[in-house]
Amino acid sequence: MNQYPQWYYDEFKQVGVDYTDLEEVRAYDLCMQKLRDIESEFNSIQGLINIKDTDLLLEIGTGTGELALKFSAHCRKVVAIDVSKKMINFAKMKAEGQKKTNIEFYNAGFLTYENYDEPYDVIVTQLALHHLPDYWKMIALRRIYGMLKEGGKFYLRDVVFPSLILDYDSYFNKIVNDLRKSAGDKLAEETEIHIREEFSTLDWIMEGLLKNAGFCIESVKCDGFIAGYLCKK
Ligand SMILES: C[S@@+](CC[C@H](N)C(=O)[O-])C[C@H]1O[C@@H](n2cnc3c(N)ncnc32)[C@H](O)[C@@H]1O
Repeated sequence: MNQYPQWYYDEFKQVGVDYTDLEEVRAYDLCMQKLRDIESEFNSIQGLINIKDTDLLLEIGTGTGELALKFSAHCRKVVAIDVSKKMINFAKMKAEGQKKTNIEFYNAGFLTYENYDEPYDVIVTQLALHHLPDYWKMIALRRIYGMLKEGGKFYLRDVVFPSLILDYDSYFNKIVNDLRKSAGDKLAEETEIHIREEFSTLDWIMEGLLKNAGFCIESVKCDGFIAGYLCKK
């Protein structure tokens, strides 16, 4: 077991929405099943990466494991990690229920996961990196780079704010109000927590962090405040 210095970031201490709470985990899973189309999220990632049945894939911040379950049907093995024990146990139960045998789950995160196996062909993370402040994002990205094979693919999708906004007050008010109308009070309140307490960064910072970690950014696709980066080692 690694000993971390006193100044090392404690990624197990939750910031923003508390995913160590089982009710919060259940509510998250239900809400995501209603709001998201995981099949089409998988298809668009697959269209970019072309995951092969020989690939070893790591998903960081797997949450309730929906995407990891999809990946597992298309690759050799998935390792899915999350700092929330409750999320990991929930995802594990789902995988067992679906009789998936090629997924391993670990309670670890961007800054603490150690890979003692072969390097990964593909690493994916969705809506999780914003839990780390910018300096620690860079450390996380350097660690990801280190765990990939030469030529390996890294796909990052997360909340990233555009830098060309002149009036951020109106910008954020509109996001929260639109979400309140389309998805209800709970998601609007979680979005307020996200903007206030979590660490989503600006587009130019994220691109700089990826490049600093050594990645070549092959494509960027922005959909409002969600950006997807396909990167290559
Ligand atoms: C908004 S959820 C996204 C879950 C899933 N990726 C999805 O798309 O539904 C964020 C997840 O990131 C996890 N997380 C937070 N900090 C993390 C870290 N440092 N390392 C790994 N996972 C982390 C949380 O526990 C939570 O499960």
